[in-house]
Amino acid sequence: MSYNGRLLADARAELERIRQENEKEHSLREQLAYSKVEQLGLLDARLRSQMTELVRVTVARRPDMMQRIREIEEENLELQARRAEMLTEAGFPMDYLDDIYSCEKCHDSGVFEGKPCSCLQKIYNRLLTAELSPIMLDGNEDFANFDLSFYPAEYDFTLSASPRDVMRLVLDRCRSFAEDFPKDVPNLLLRGGTGLGKTYLSACIAKVVAEKGYSVCYDSAAFAFEAFEKQKFSRDPEESERSAAKVSRMLDCDLMILDDLGTEMVTSLTVSALYTLINTRLISRRPIIISTNCSNEELAKKYSPQICSRILGEFKILPFCGSDIRLLKKSR
Ligand SMILES: Nc1ncnc2c1ncn2[C@@H]1O[C@H](COP(=O)(O)OP(=O)(O)OP(=O)(O)O)[C@@H](O)[C@H]1O
Ligand SMILES: [Mg+2]
Ligand SMILES: [Zn+2]
Repeated sequence: MSYNGRLLADARAELERIRQENEKEHSLREQLAYSKVEQLGLLDARLRSQMTELVRVTVARRPDMMQRIREIEEENLELQARRAEMLTEAGFPMDYLDDIYSCEKCHDSGVFEGKPCSCLQKIYNRLLTAELSPIMLDGNEDFANFDLSFYPAEYDFTLSASPRDVMRLVLDRCRSFAEDFPKDVPNLLLRGGTGLGKTYLSACIAKVVAEKGYSVCYDSAAFAFEAFEKQKFSRDPEESERSAAKVSRMLDCDLMILDDLGTEMVTSLTVSALYTLINTRLISRRPIIISTNCSNEELAKKYSPQICSRILGEFKILPFCGSDIRLLKKSR
């Protein structure tokens, strides 16, 4: 598994927050216990000075070193027992003053056996999925849950196949895209009518690719182009900075998903934004997935010839067919 640096840094910061919380809780417990059991504070101070003593004895290496170490150990056991007694007598659990760790494996350091600990990975994965939440319609999007039975099995003469067979191929293509990513994957154009599963399959791909540790950026065309516009024209410096950051993420991320192309208001500005997005990513060989309801003719009418020739020449087109699954789900 490889990691997205920015998200990994965020995950580390979160783990650090957890560590500090635990430390705070620990010192609160100490305050409470010490105020309830007066002797306990003294005893803990004695335990700490024993540790210093142990270090001193070991470093000094005098002839009676072993003897001294044994003595300290004995006294230590005695003090520990005494301490446990004090705690339980005052009604505290025996481990009440132990260090608190959310992860016993790495003691909240995030590193276990020289590798990122599973607790850090868990936080990282949560951040990844949170980042993809706008594309996750109900969070269940997964290749395994993609239901082919929504697509008619009857032969369709215009398709020369049944919609289900066509969609089985589309599903296969999307699955291999996600599995092979980033090696030799084509750009994809998911095309078809409303409610046929284009956004759904984009989300399935996004999930797999993100879980492999690649950065995925998702947006509908309308919002994506709005960011291009705002970075240029917003009068609010904060907004234009935010938009500029978003634009550079769309240009640089490992996988860009541009949803619903053709539903936005087309202006010369959106056309130039689309050109920049496609062209920049083609040049740097970073894949892009576009979904649209538009036919080639409609694309040609809305956007420039340069854009259409790039889409037709550089994208693998996947035709979605069948009937609106939003409606089918309602009637089922
Ligand atoms: N194969 C499938 N199995 C299960 N649910 C599906 C499948 N395809 C689509 N859905 C569900 O049907 C609804 C519509 O799918 P989706 O949003 O992906 O359509 P779309 O092709 O993106 O439509 P639009 O062009 O309107 O954006 C969603 O609720 C989605 O979860
Ligand atoms: Mg959609
Ligand atoms: Zn851990």
